[in-house]
Amino acid sequence: MKTNSNRIRIAIQKSGRLAEKSIHILNKCGLDLDLRKDRLLHSCTNFPVDLMFVRDDDIPEYVADGVCEIGVVGINILEEKYLSIPDLDKKCFEILFKMGFGHCRLSLAVPDDFNYISPQSLNGLRIASSYPSCLRRFLSENKIQCEIIELSGSVEIAPNLKIADAICDLVSTGATLRSNGLKEVTTLLSSEACLVKTCKPINPEPQLTLDYLLRRLKGVLMAQRSKYIMMNAPKSSIEQIKKLIPGMEEPTIMSLTDSEKVALHAVASEDIFWETLEKLKAVGASSILVLPIEKVIA
Ligand code: PRP
Ligand code: ZN
Repeated sequence: MKTNSNRIRIAIQKSGRLAEKSIHILNKCGLDLDLRKDRLLHSCTNFPVDLMFVRDDDIPEYVADGVCEIGVVGINILEEKYLSIPDLDKKCFEILFKMGFGHCRLSLAVPDDFNYISPQSLNGLRIASSYPSCLRRFLSENKIQCEIIELSGSVEIAPNLKIADAICDLVSTGATLRSNGLKEVTTLLSSEACLVKTCKPINPEPQLTLDYLLRRLKGVLMAQRSKYIMMNAPKSSIEQIKKLIPGMEEPTIMSLTDSEKVALHAVASEDIFWETLEKLKAVGASSILVLPIEKVIA
């Protein structure tokens, strides 16, 4: 079906924390998606792209096998299914870039009243997890012997049910742990959504589609991170201001009727926090405006 076509397939999580944001970013790339309920494959109406909605656990395999040219998946899944497993052929997909959403971490957590000093405190105990490979690697690196109780979900209730003494699970806000009387004690890995590409050969036509899409994706991600900042400032502060704005290229400086002051406009490649605005004010900047950027082509 795909031979002699310029269409590419993107594997996306069908439901869960990455699903909505993955689609949002593709929409921002200008893709019109014809999303119909309960379908595996969804065609884009204005771009030669099809989305395949699958379980996030399966995304690395679809991309590795070349069924999908690219996929959006959490680093946690890649680690669990491929990277933490010794002797596995890992040359089947390539991580292209992180996507700036879906941040979480894989952590060990114990009941609030557990006297945890170091990972050794878990020696001889039972740890429930949906991430047995990552956990096994951590335990072996730290020379700890534990029984791994493999569960596919609701791991956080295992200590209350007395089927485990500790858990190893994803933490984002920490609310799930708190509501189950657990405390986070060690982080095994930090994760966010990333874009993976198959290492299987791609025909020239779909490769062109992919290059085009990747350019747009990078532009959207860069725009999301970047801010446009404008302010008035004393001429004497220009050098200090340049140092305060994160990732700024050379600013545009315009003279004002007040000859001691200038208007300064710049693109910052990172978010600008309130603290930075306070510092800008302290060196004499005024009327500071920070604006979002819609699109960027570098
Ligand atoms: C994850 C994880 C925790 C929760 C943590 O589950 O397993 O239960 O999120 O998030 P929090 O720190 O913000 O509370 P998820 O919702 O992905 O579902 P699952 O456990 O059914 O896979
Ligand atoms: Zn959960």
